[in-house]
Amino acid sequence: MPMEATIDIRITEADLAEALRTDVMTGLSGPRKWLPPKWFYDARGSKLFEAITDLPEYYPTRTERALLHACAQEIAVGASDATELIELGSGSSEKTGLLLRSFSAHGSLRSYVPLDVSESALRDAVGWINAEFPRIEVHGLVSDFTNGLDWLPRRGRRIVALLGGTLGNLVPAERAEFFGRLHNVLEPGEQLLLGVGLVTDPAVMVPAYDDAAGVTAEFNRNILHVLNNRLGANFEPSRFAHVAVWDPGNRWIEMRLEATADMTVTVADLDLMLEFAAGEQMRTEISAKFRLADFHAELAAAGLPAQRSWTDPAERFAVVLAGR
Ligand code: SAH
Ligand code: TRP
Repeated sequence: MPMEATIDIRITEADLAEALRTDVMTGLSGPRKWLPPKWFYDARGSKLFEAITDLPEYYPTRTERALLHACAQEIAVGASDATELIELGSGSSEKTGLLLRSFSAHGSLRSYVPLDVSESALRDAVGWINAEFPRIEVHGLVSDFTNGLDWLPRRGRRIVALLGGTLGNLVPAERAEFFGRLHNVLEPGEQLLLGVGLVTDPAVMVPAYDDAAGVTAEFNRNILHVLNNRLGANFEPSRFAHVAVWDPGNRWIEMRLEATADMTVTVADLDLMLEFAAGEQMRTEISAKFRLADFHAELAAAGLPAQRSWTDPAERFAVVLAGR
């Protein structure tokens, strides 16, 4: 019999609704419209993201999977003596299975704590992990990792993972705050495992965020469906075009939605009327890419120095183990 798996809801529907109202008010009522990316991920958004990870153009997932395949044993056997793996933005936890497999064969790991804002994704993940790893305790948390990390559980020596390039979805100021919080909450000897995209050829990076089949476009527009469903907005998603551009100065891919005509949109629950001019763009996400040396320097400056890094031969992605 597997151990009992639990799911704690640390962010309720009411909290989510309130946070979304605030984000829409701040993001959409100004002259330059933007929305934070966590709102992509309702049940439909999580499914669309899973479809993205299988696209031929979306190299990050398979590259990171190969890296984890290559380094999991080394981490579990020598580089980490963690007893608890906490994964932020765990999604399907599919690649994490590679780590759990090594840790359960060789390591000291006793518990796995996947954390995600998407309750549906979390439930699916907790289900299969509990079945496949009966000796690891699984405690899922529905929560927002940008809302502080003080309440992160601590049942033993922790390793905190943030994979899939999700770190790059934070703007630099949010990233600095995130590292600051991690530095505060981790004890000396605890660790961090980060999967980040590296700067590479724009001809490789851009199609990963603008695939031929249009799945990423549909994922991007899903944020409008979320606003319609949760806030009674009346966006017509099909009238917004998906835009993905590489910004070489900031070293990030920027995802936008562009109004294809003049439009007035109402957000019923907020008594808000929004005007869009044809061609107007709103930013929905950034995906920062790193140069490994800069990334190491950033970690060191945050008091979380890198201990080991793994990159693929084409140097498109890195998995970095860092320590407090
Ligand atoms: N780690 C998985 C999923 C990456 S997609 C992978 O590598 O494939 C990003 C995941 O982070 C999604 O599951 C999304 O629901 C979650 N997420 C995004 N912003 C979040 C936030 N602020 N707090 C918690 N989870 C978040
Ligand atoms: N963390 C993923 C990344 O930056 C998220 C992502 C992939 C994404 N494709 C996207 C976000 C398209 C918005 C639109 O690679």
